[in-house]
Amino acid sequence: MIELTINGKEIKTEKGKTILQAALSNGIKIPNLCYDKRVVPFGACRVCVVEIEGQRKLEASCATLAGDGMVVLTDTPKVRKARQAVLEFMLVHHPLDCPVCDKAGECDLQELVYEYGKPNGRFVKEKKHSPPDTKGPLVELTANRCILCGKCVRICSEFQGRGALGFIGRGFSTVVQPAFGEAIECDYCGQCIDVCPTGALLNKSLKYKARPWTLEEKDTICPFCGCGCTVTLGVKDGKILRARGREDNGRNEGNLCGRGRFGFDYIYSENRLTSPLIRKGDELVPSSWEEALNYISDRLRNIIDSHGPSSIGAIGSPRCTNEENYLFQKFIRDVIGSDNIDSSAAFGYGLAEKAWEMSFGQSGHRIDLKSPAGKDVILVVESDLSVTHPVFGLNILKAKRNGSQLIVADSRETKLTRHSSHWANIKQGTGVALLNGIMKVIMERGLFDDKNTLKIKGFSDLEEILKDYTPERVSEITGIGVDELVAISETFAKAKTRMLTLSVGVSENTKGLDMVLAAANLINLVGESPDALQIPAEYANSFGLYQMGIRPDAGPGYKISDNTGKGISDMLYWAGPNMPDIRDADNGSWEELDKLMALKALYIMGTDPAVTFPDSSNITRRLKSLDLLIVQDIALTDTAKLAHVVLPASSWAEKDGTYTNAEGITQKVCKVTELTGQSFPDWQILKNLSLAMGKDLGIEDMGDIVEEINSLPPVHILPVNRSFNPVNYAWSEGTDVSYPLNMVVRDLLQHAGSMSTRSKTLGLVSSEARIEINERDAERFGISDNSHVRITSRQGTVYLKATVTDKVPDGTVYVPSHFPHSGVSTLTCHSARKGISMDAVRVEAA
Ligand code: FES
Repeated sequence: MIELTINGKEIKTEKGKTILQAALSNGIKIPNLCYDKRVVPFGACRVCVVEIEGQRKLEASCATLAGDGMVVLTDTPKVRKARQAVLEFMLVHHPLDCPVCDKAGECDLQELVYEYGKPNGRFVKEKKHSPPDTKGPLVELTANRCILCGKCVRICSEFQGRGALGFIGRGFSTVVQPAFGEAIECDYCGQCIDVCPTGALLNKSLKYKARPWTLEEKDTICPFCGCGCTVTLGVKDGKILRARGREDNGRNEGNLCGRGRFGFDYIYSENRLTSPLIRKGDELVPSSWEEALNYISDRLRNIIDSHGPSSIGAIGSPRCTNEENYLFQKFIRDVIGSDNIDSSAAFGYGLAEKAWEMSFGQSGHRIDLKSPAGKDVILVVESDLSVTHPVFGLNILKAKRNGSQLIVADSRETKLTRHSSHWANIKQGTGVALLNGIMKVIMERGLFDDKNTLKIKGFSDLEEILKDYTPERVSEITGIGVDELVAISETFAKAKTRMLTLSVGVSENTKGLDMVLAAANLINLVGESPDALQIPAEYANSFGLYQMGIRPDAGPGYKISDNTGKGISDMLYWAGPNMPDIRDADNGSWEELDKLMALKALYIMGTDPAVTFPDSSNITRRLKSLDLLIVQDIALTDTAKLAHVVLPASSWAEKDGTYTNAEGITQKVCKVTELTGQSFPDWQILKNLSLAMGKDLGIEDMGDIVEEINSLPPVHILPVNRSFNPVNYAWSEGTDVSYPLNMVVRDLLQHAGSMSTRSKTLGLVSSEARIEINERDAERFGISDNSHVRITSRQGTVYLKATVTDKVPDGTVYVPSHFPHSGVSTLTCHSARKGISMDAVRVEAA
């Protein structure tokens, strides 16, 4: 630490900090326009100049290191005069169009000019006259207002890892533009809008809708991925008009991705439900709440009387709050008397949790968003974390910038592969083989602590299985070289600190329980702490719903249930332990299967399995076969269209409650806007339905639910109890002459699940599923960019537009599953162990 004096105050700071950083961290304000702590100081604006005792010249405090014993003055007449001159220069060209600029009222330049007084205007030069330039669907660039501070350029390039903006031109004609002045092609995160100190970069969706001072701002938690970012919502006349990040705010420290910033308008989609609906014939007809609740109550009671409570199942929602999920499982367990309850976490976080228990003997697997910091080596396997969990992805990039070695094993080019120290370009779906191969190399070279590792249960089984994973065979399976495999293995094993990370989720295939177990085996082999394995829960409350007991085998607080109920596989796939595999069924045996299932009613809250779950044709068939399907959601989803009764629920912004993010941190979700139509928060619907069924859940208000959750016995963290669970690599459905390509389902940056596809703003960037295909495969099958393609798997056929790209490898095509109308989930099938297995497809020009 060093000591210096600023404005007479003695302060301490770490060596290597600038004067500006030292001042700000000690509560001393120095005005600045081009400084942002996330990027390297630029020293462009000179607003931050200060006097340093013993030096004649004023220095830019953002670009001058604090020195031991330094005496600094930040607000002397000399400093103020210099700042006023700097501002005067800036205003030579800057248009004084504040009355029509959306930034007015929160513009840093405007604030400083106001503080330092109107400049004399000694320099007379014609104002710039470039009209607003829409550089893409979400951002408006008005070059006149740009002061060339470079914050947008640097945040995009250094921090986001994109580099979509740059300086073009020289001298007075310099402007910030995308490359060659063309339309912006970027992550559409909008971080450039947040950092712009003037109105040069503006949020197009807000333009002329509100002046900043007319917005009432409230913090809440983003409803999309498991990062749990804090967003500041701006509300006017009861409507959300803006979402932004504020510096250092929340787990995201003010950073937001495009979903969090622009996607909130999904709550205003046209297909929001405004009243309960009851099926009458082929139609869903609006009804009163009383009629709908009585209808459900009568039908559920009849089914319980005729078939027993275990004929009823339920699917909870990672979009609903902890309190709602808690009450949902309480309703199903206490009012209905069934343990048949599960969620989409069965395809993602549930697998991570299961592997965690099997490999480390602990429950409640959580990540730390900041865990990448300071790791010697970070290994990412078959995951695009910059897409699935953007803020976690940013932290991985930051660690790399600060010296971590980043090894990314992936089949296609991603932001992480572009910024990696090494991209192991493996074939998609071969991650298990890669991890086994790494372990084999580590074992053969004795790069593990054999004294402790040999004692771990299952070591000899692991050794036995790994015999087949010689570097040569793994090279053949994965497509990477033997030397490359050995180098990766040695780098990972020899690192002093390391992290292995991957994502698992319903909208990604090729990764399932086996992949997570293989990753955990590697962590055990190198004797790392279980925390070195980071698998983030996929959606906003996937972690929380699991804690709240939305699972068939445990109640709230991980309390193991005596009666294990049916999970997703049993309820939707006819694939339980005693069930014949669906593919064995010929047309005549469906009724037989339905009888075996013994599930007569399903209550689905906030989930759209007919679109987002794999093998959706068979799910649709299953849902249609039920005696009673109740869907409670905010919109008329494809699943809701199949229901006997539909209940309108309020959205994330229309209720209070909590989400628990992938780190296991519970955060408040706030009501910022009024209910839509006759919708109610899910917990109120459940409370009223219980009363209609003659049972009182003992809940009057939200406070009662919170009290019950808080009274759950604390979860004891068990000591680490390691086991090896060896797994073999198993190739998914094979390609052949009829189905020559592998199809991989992966997420898009602009979407999380299907809910975000209802956002009009996000739809301006990404509104349809496209198949990504390599140029050579495209040529081979007669497909051109933007043309329509018929895609046929052994499960079904869909039609999508093609994007021909060199970012994907030969022999593999990539599709997203977010869009309901695309029908992509009809092409896929389900296997909990292997993931939603990679499917073989053929593609033809349509
Ligand atoms: Fe220091 Fe701009 S903040 S020069």
